[in-house]
Amino acid sequence: MKFCESVFIISVFIQLVSTELSSYNFPENFVFGVATAAYQIEGAFNEDGKTDSIWDYNLHKKPDWVIDQGNGDVACDSYHKWEEDIQLIANLGVDFYRFSIAWTRIFPSGYAGSKINDAGVIYYNKLIDGLLAKGITPMVTIYHWDLPQNLQRNGGWMNETIVDNYVFYARTLFELYGDRVKHWITFNEPFQICESGYSETDLAPFLNDSGVGGYICAHNLLISHGRAYREYERTFKQNQGGKVAITAHSFWFEPQGESDSDRAAAERAMQFWYGWFMHPVIKGNYPPIMIERIDEISQKEGFQKSRLPKFTEGQIEMIRGSFDFIGVNHYTTALASISNNFNEPSFYFDGGVNRTEDSNWVKSSTSTWLNKVPWGLRKLLNWIKQEYNNPPVLITENGWSSSTGLEDSRRVSYLNEYLSELLKAIHEDECNVIGYTHWSLLDNFEWLKGYTARFGLVEVDFNNPDRTRTPRKSYGVYQKIISSRKIN
Ligand code: NOJ
Repeated sequence: MKFCESVFIISVFIQLVSTELSSYNFPENFVFGVATAAYQIEGAFNEDGKTDSIWDYNLHKKPDWVIDQGNGDVACDSYHKWEEDIQLIANLGVDFYRFSIAWTRIFPSGYAGSKINDAGVIYYNKLIDGLLAKGITPMVTIYHWDLPQNLQRNGGWMNETIVDNYVFYARTLFELYGDRVKHWITFNEPFQICESGYSETDLAPFLNDSGVGGYICAHNLLISHGRAYREYERTFKQNQGGKVAITAHSFWFEPQGESDSDRAAAERAMQFWYGWFMHPVIKGNYPPIMIERIDEISQKEGFQKSRLPKFTEGQIEMIRGSFDFIGVNHYTTALASISNNFNEPSFYFDGGVNRTEDSNWVKSSTSTWLNKVPWGLRKLLNWIKQEYNNPPVLITENGWSSSTGLEDSRRVSYLNEYLSELLKAIHEDECNVIGYTHWSLLDNFEWLKGYTARFGLVEVDFNNPDRTRTPRKSYGVYQKIISSRKIN
């Protein structure tokens, strides 16, 4: 056999092996959901008393942050079309719908104790009641990136007074909706909120305070999470019987090669990206490797003290164990190796990890960071099991980004293959995964990618004032997986 023939046969074989789907069933109690977030779908940015969030404010001021100059002013217009959305969710057959509440609709000034906005309260009451009427469990994300601009004026997540404001807001939601909402996510993706928003310019408020802002933001955010969790536990849990969690994003980091240094870089990356948030919540305090490295590097850089803030003993105890399950947003895998080739001070220099990808991975055409690497999900779930003693894990997001078009076969294979690895993690590795949430129900405002990157099981026509919704092929495939409880 000629060399090129054997290469061809091997590559076909690899493809067949990698796409072989699991025939396991989803366990009886396993739940399926679909997710969205307020700024990405609601629109009605200035209706009924709502004020500007950091996204409204920044994108109005500087539309060029976004690739197509889009923004969330109208988005999917779900503020008006929520009934149609509920119908789509019901037809899909999911158990739950994960959506977020816009802080600026509830408290236009953002501040604790300020005047509550009744129209905003009513909107989410209608949504929650509408879901329940169709047998869909509501799961609420309390904060999905849309901080009131009025609080950002005062430093936002970098000012410790944010903690009282956030806890008051969270407490208000428990009071208003906790009789019907039993699943709460305090924060969506703290890494993106803090590192991307305060130390870089990837997300609002685009502060670019490298190596400093992200850590301060994360510190205040973790204290806010812990306090909100304890508030629920103390005041509401007994009567309402709900569950509270935090959702962090995680890549799976695979060592680039076989060397010890690549292996160490991959483990360090897991601790820096994911452990930064989950270590305090599950084990108490930041991962030791972060504390050591940032202390040492800060000293060398001539800072008076570590750029990584310190928790008090009381705070460590308060945050440790502040979860009823853990939320994981997982989309893709990266290869890790050692590197010091970064600006200082920065999170990246502190971590010392170079991130690359394998050129053979199937790449999303619209989200450059997104590759299809299904086995990464299984490895991630096993890492969580080992590292954190097998806590209940809910996949709170997973999905594929395409461009327009209803025949989304790449999303279909992504969905099938990721779920297949998930089934193996449950059945063969005994990972404690309790459910799966697909991102997203609808095409929506994909942050700096605007409307160019489409994540929806349902296509939305953003040129049509009606924002017409049309289910894609993947919608039918997910529907069938849910009803048959297996991959077909
Ligand atoms: C994570 C975020 O939570 C969500 O807002 C975003 O649209 C998706 N990932 C896709 O990038």
